[in-house]
Amino acid sequence: MPTEPHRTQVAIVGAGPAGLFLAHLLHRHGIESVIVETRSREEVEGTIRAGVLEQWTVDLMHDLGLGERMAREAHFHRGITLRFAGESHHLDFEALTGGKRVTVYPQHEVLKDLIAARLADGGTIHFGVRDVEMHDLGSDRPRVTYTDGDGEPGELRCDFVAGCDGSQGSARGHIEGRTEVQHLYPFGWLGILVEAPPSHHELIYARHERGFALLSTRSPEIQRLYLQCGPTDRAADYPDALIWSELHRRLETVDGWTLTEGRIFQKGVIGMRSFVCDRMQHGRLFLAGDAAHIVPPTGAKGLNLAVADAVYLSRGLECFYRTRSLEELGRYTETCLRRIWRAERFSWYMTNLLHTNPAEGPFEHRIRLADLDYVVHSPAAATALAENYVGLPLD
Ligand code: FAD
Ligand code: DHB
Repeated sequence: MPTEPHRTQVAIVGAGPAGLFLAHLLHRHGIESVIVETRSREEVEGTIRAGVLEQWTVDLMHDLGLGERMAREAHFHRGITLRFAGESHHLDFEALTGGKRVTVYPQHEVLKDLIAARLADGGTIHFGVRDVEMHDLGSDRPRVTYTDGDGEPGELRCDFVAGCDGSQGSARGHIEGRTEVQHLYPFGWLGILVEAPPSHHELIYARHERGFALLSTRSPEIQRLYLQCGPTDRAADYPDALIWSELHRRLETVDGWTLTEGRIFQKGVIGMRSFVCDRMQHGRLFLAGDAAHIVPPTGAKGLNLAVADAVYLSRGLECFYRTRSLEELGRYTETCLRRIWRAERFSWYMTNLLHTNPAEGPFEHRIRLADLDYVVHSPAAATALAENYVGLPLD
């Protein structure tokens, strides 16, 4: 039996950070939405990705009434440590930015909180759907069709479609006249999860001739570490002993600090690229998050940028439902791209600053070290890095 078409104001495709934040922001303005998501709830809540939240993302979670568990379980750091030439240099972001902090609260924990709250509010999220298709995007009555988890056809009739379906989604393909800009990096990250106590109270970003390393955390019992690897390397190429020996060498310092080892229970390789689609809207379709842009992970910007798009889109939609004017929505791409390109610049800068590029020679290596030396000794340079890392204010 075909299911009756469902009428909603905004159909959201994808239950990642962009789609879920958008649903909450719209709900706050009394705007209805329905989310369709191809993965199961368990998969969405179990995928390990980003770890760091910008200060305004944290503030937004509190504003939306979603910050209770984060306030209890997240790690709040004053700053980060940059490590190079065997020495550690602490950057005190809280002092440099007038009180903004680094919040380590993993993406899947954010998603668990957003999904639980959305369902508790009576919101609809269709998990485990397939064959998602968008129709009539040039009209003011677009539709999204899909097959639900029981194999039944479903249809959402709506005013707008939000394409929040990530970098592999199909929404971007509907944006006519778009131009895509891409930059590839000649390296990737091997990410591991380890059963061990924290080796340091804050994140350590290390530049070393053998490559970049990053020490992060997940909980008092579980730590997250990353190692620069080749762009086509596979996790299976890295036995545990090799990972530990590389981490020890790349993170070694002259001040007696030691890295605590533990059981590695997850390994995965993350690709690194910068990508921007220069149009984020077509007719009644609007893209948000990774569907429109990708940053390399070094600046921890990907998730935060997806949330910023959701904020701008919710503002445009709120304006439409209040005034029936499409003017603010008409500026959506332009508003988003300004922040996106600043985040692209920062992520590219942090990536080049900290990684060893096999295509570069000793000159570039020395220039990167001089840049790091400048950042840790000049309050002006340190402030520039700090304000980007904790998050530039939303326009
Ligand atoms: P996503 O989180 O990708 O969500 C899109 C959702 O849409 C997914 O749940 C997907 O299943 C769903 N979907 C796809 N196609 C369809 C369809 N046709 N119909 C319905 N649903 C669909 N960023 C950092 O800042 N630091 C990190 O360390 C970091 N690590 C990462 C590791 C990995 C392996 C990946 C892939 C990304 C990582 N990122 C990191 C980036 C960060 O996680 C993303 O920027 C963020 O998830 C973007 O959110 P999003 O909602 O736009 O997209
Ligand atoms: C983490 C990821 C990042 O990309 C980063 O810059 C810092 C921390 C993390 O997963 O904890």
